[in-house]
Amino acid sequence: MALHRLKSLTVGVPDVARTADYYVDFGLERLAPGRFATVEGGEQFVLRPSPVRRLLGMTIAVDDTDDLGRIAVNLKRLDVPVQWDAAALRAREPVADIVVEATVEPRSVRTPVPATAYNGPGRLDRPDARAPALSRTYPVRPLALGHVVIGTVEQESTQRFFTAGIGLKVSDVVPGRAAFMRCSTDHHNVLVQQAPINFLHHTSWQVADVDDVGRGAMSMLAEHPERHVWGLGRHHIGSNFFWYLKDPAGNFSEYYSDMDAIVDDQVWTPRSFEGVRALYEWGPPPPPSFINPEDLAAHMTGAHAEGH
Ligand SMILES: [Fe+2]
Repeated sequence: MALHRLKSLTVGVPDVARTADYYVDFGLERLAPGRFATVEGGEQFVLRPSPVRRLLGMTIAVDDTDDLGRIAVNLKRLDVPVQWDAAALRAREPVADIVVEATVEPRSVRTPVPATAYNGPGRLDRPDARAPALSRTYPVRPLALGHVVIGTVEQESTQRFFTAGIGLKVSDVVPGRAAFMRCSTDHHNVLVQQAPINFLHHTSWQVADVDDVGRGAMSMLAEHPERHVWGLGRHHIGSNFFWYLKDPAGNFSEYYSDMDAIVDDQVWTPRSFEGVRALYEWGPPPPPSFINPEDLAAHMTGAHAEGH
């Protein structure tokens, strides 16, 4: 039938224990050392030791064995070696060196969260009451994994692996630079962007609404202002509210809410975006380190040293 979900990510970091504590603060549930769950998505995040921070793998959920067969044929057409059986398929994206697994899984049934009551001009959805966010005392916990963003030295080739090979659909593009791709009704689950080196840019996690984006970030920053990267803002591509924070390894993690959902592929028209809209609609200006994370130069030197 189809791909239906970004199920999980495996990320390599130099110090698993220290990075793990960050993701507990972020609101993920620690199931075991280095293994984390969201409220509705089950286990969705794994940390493993790695000399340099990077995305090691991702798992995409599909409906049935036919999907695996189709992916296997398509990847072979791209000359990508594939291992597969009735339940799972495994292949390595050859440019960014990421293990991509597709597994047969039931569709997850999401619990509808009631709309937050916001007053509007001529529309009092919350008469005689303070904003509900003011009385939310519980810690923000991500409901589900949303997307992953990677830099790759060959954007077109990595994009082809995910579209022509795995079967993700392109939602929007920044020509020659980035492709926003989906394997669910989320506007994007995987974003690949052209970069001077292969690296993990960010992971993104869904929370209930913009108030929880703000509350989550405030809580992360209370004792660690150095975690702040960029926010609060709203993206243009995908429309979501965002706030980006940084884990101790240098990976960004994003709280988001209100992303575009593409339910009927026939109705959605992918578009090209350039300039500032490729980055955001409103918010503080993005720091230069958002585009080029501070550790990239050192990683490039390291990669070149390894190459020689
Ligand atoms: Fe994002």
